[in-house]
Amino acid sequence: MAFFKSKEDRQVQVDFDHLPRHIAIIMDGNGRWAKKRGLPRTAGHAAGAENFRTIATYCKDIGLDYLTVYAFSTENWKRPAEEVGAIMGLLKKYLLEAIGRMERDRVKMEFFGDLSPLTPELRELCERTREISKHYEGCQVNICLNYGGRDELLRAARAYAQDCLEGRADPNHLGESQFSDYLFSRGVPDPDLVIRPSGELRLSNFLLWQSAYAEFYFTDVLWPDFSKEELHKAIAAFQGRSRRFGGV
Ligand code: FPP
Repeated sequence: MAFFKSKEDRQVQVDFDHLPRHIAIIMDGNGRWAKKRGLPRTAGHAAGAENFRTIATYCKDIGLDYLTVYAFSTENWKRPAEEVGAIMGLLKKYLLEAIGRMERDRVKMEFFGDLSPLTPELRELCERTREISKHYEGCQVNICLNYGGRDELLRAARAYAQDCLEGRADPNHLGESQFSDYLFSRGVPDPDLVIRPSGELRLSNFLLWQSAYAEFYFTDVLWPDFSKEELHKAIAAFQGRSRRFGGV
């Protein structure tokens, strides 16, 4: 058990021996963070990417098993081309750095989403990152890229139907765990805790199937300001909840 003082001078108590196994984060509020400072939205994304590095490293250091972040949704293509380009540029920068540090960090990296609309260069970087790190044990970081929960479910339903048509699957024997194997997240346990900073109180098409029994933590803090201290608060809130999974 460790005790921290929050900015509001409240005691935050985190039991590092009983962390949630899987934390998922909607990295929201980059645009507002930039606007508050009179900066372009792209500066907010750069600050958000920097904070992702800090939080992902911290999650690995405290022994978290899985961290999943929402970096780019299937709907984010509607943003101005300049903003989309800036986010893709930040991803490229991050992946190049991650590849350079892989042997030291030994974080397993995965990508959830349809990577086919990305540039060949970015796709190749994702593939290389995944390939180099696939045998690492310990922390796994999943980056949701061109990801949408509904899109993921539709793809799974299509692939499953195809397997039925071709005799590889039998609809009478479809259970939750078999269906989960058709999702981008196959093999990864469901998130225990879903965090959304920035004051928005919605899921925005994030891990719709996987978050069925997740605990939610919402805060007004914008993603670039979501510090380790904020993460402690989220974990402490999670540890104070009683999870019944539909039982009593
Ligand atoms: C949501 O904030 C954020 C995004 C759509 C992009 C997130 C991308 C990054 C943090 C950078 C790249 C990621 C990695 C993993 C290196 P918003 O723009 O919707 O903020 P707003 O609601 O305040 O406008």
